[in-house]
Amino acid sequence: GSVTSTIVQRNPVFSTINNDDLIYFEKILGPKKVIQDHEELQTANTDWMHKYKGSSKLMIQPENTTELSQILEYCNSRCLAVVPQGGNTGLVGGSVPVFDEIIVNTRRMNSIISFDKVSGVLVCEAGCILENLISFLDKEGFIMPLDLGAKGSCQIGGNISTNAGGLRLVRYGSLHGTVLGLEVVLANGSVIDMLGTLRKDNTGYDLKHLFIGSEGSLGIITKVSILTPPKLSSVNIAFLACQDYISCQKLLFQAKRRLGEILSAFEFLDAQAMNLALHHLDSVRNPLPSSIYNFYVLIETTGSNESNDKEKLEAFLLHAMESGLVTDGALAQDFSQASSFWHIREVENLINIICMITLNMLILCTRFQGIPEALMKAGAVYKYDLSLPVEKMYDLVEEMRIRLGGAANVVGYGHLGDGNLHLNVSAPQYDDAILAQIEPFVYEWTSRHRGSISAEHGLGLMKAEKIYYSKSTETVSLHYYEG
Ligand code: FAD
Ligand code: MLT
Ligand code: ZN
Repeated sequence: GSVTSTIVQRNPVFSTINNDDLIYFEKILGPKKVIQDHEELQTANTDWMHKYKGSSKLMIQPENTTELSQILEYCNSRCLAVVPQGGNTGLVGGSVPVFDEIIVNTRRMNSIISFDKVSGVLVCEAGCILENLISFLDKEGFIMPLDLGAKGSCQIGGNISTNAGGLRLVRYGSLHGTVLGLEVVLANGSVIDMLGTLRKDNTGYDLKHLFIGSEGSLGIITKVSILTPPKLSSVNIAFLACQDYISCQKLLFQAKRRLGEILSAFEFLDAQAMNLALHHLDSVRNPLPSSIYNFYVLIETTGSNESNDKEKLEAFLLHAMESGLVTDGALAQDFSQASSFWHIREVENLINIICMITLNMLILCTRFQGIPEALMKAGAVYKYDLSLPVEKMYDLVEEMRIRLGGAANVVGYGHLGDGNLHLNVSAPQYDDAILAQIEPFVYEWTSRHRGSISAEHGLGLMKAEKIYYSKSTETVSLHYYEG
């Protein structure tokens, strides 16, 4: 059964599609972009976790802004509900219908419009798959300012709509900083051109920010202008073990000071997360097999001077070992080792291998990896994506473990460098008794520590009603302000 139908009722204000609607859509788009095929709809109705399931009978795949605008204008006039969908990798149930909404999928809007090598500004359509943008830029000597394990499927429009964080935020900041412009289509079909390519523009309100992270609630993003950093030649990756959480924190403090401008990722995982990865992912090998440790930290540096960067990292590691913060560690010696370290946490970072194997093969063998995939293989998973003060963050994992006793496996990992904990509870199957132990406790705890109940995944259906744990009533009412 679906998790959703018990939560909300279908709003009777919305119409249901009829034959005239289908005739109109086919007239505008032609038959190929109006999809009623059962299997395709099954996939599009179901989220990545197989947790949320809608019952839409129709998916529309417009090819450009004009088509999308016509479709939305029509749906608005007919009071037909729609759900925007990109790569459908979202983790909060926002990318699939709740009931029978029309799925508006952006996958056909996937052209690169322009790239300026001097400014590093890329302009593209919203349906471009993140990994395709990464490989396009690689050939130009640039990278995307964001990277995440879902890159083989997620789209830049979906990334911006969720304000995705990911593995590089610690270095390049959030999309609120790197997105320079957007084109969006509002629900009534109006096209809003905010597709600037300027770093600086203080003429009036910067309305594009409203669309970054608004999960399709204000309109559909159709084009994107984004600032991309140059690709730097020297990348180093260390996989380290810490005996306790306080050491992870101190290591982060040291890394920010001693590695400074070359630090490009600081990820952590606990022993439970490591066990899951080792157990469920065939290709994962333990880089530190001599013992079991309580915590692991993956540090990546990216810079332009190989010998300087290595020297810096080695000095940092030596200091960390000598001061007892790090108990064991491995520094990747070659590309394949570096990829295998990343593999544990997320999909490996394969930019340089793209030259060696074809893109199709690459996507086939690396589609999803890392802890999120291991959790999926382990059974049902309750996912919490929290921003918390770093010093308090792991207390929540420990308290949750005590609450649940042996009933479920409590796993902690995440983007420690950004204060973002992924608290996951893994159980053989979904169980209301387990859920009752987790919620509202996890939200109350987060609220008490002035954290965010959604650091980077968004609210979706899962947390739409929970917004009050992180935002004041006055702030939420501004969301719905009607003048
Ligand atoms: P979808 O899942 O299709 O949609 C997400 C939301 O955006 C929905 O509400 C949808 O309605 C809306 N939407 C989609 N496209 C548009 C558009 N063009 N205009 C308006 N609204 C739109 N997230 C992180 O932040 N950091 C991570 O490190 C991370 N790692 C992940 C790893 C794995 C293995 C997986 C499966 C997911 C991960 N995610 C992560 C979550 C997910 O990948 C991101 O939220 C991603 O940005 C979603 O992009 P998408 O194209 O798949 O969007
Ligand atoms: C991650 O960092 O791995 C993603 O946000 C997905 C997840 O939380 O599982
Ligand atoms: Zn994450």
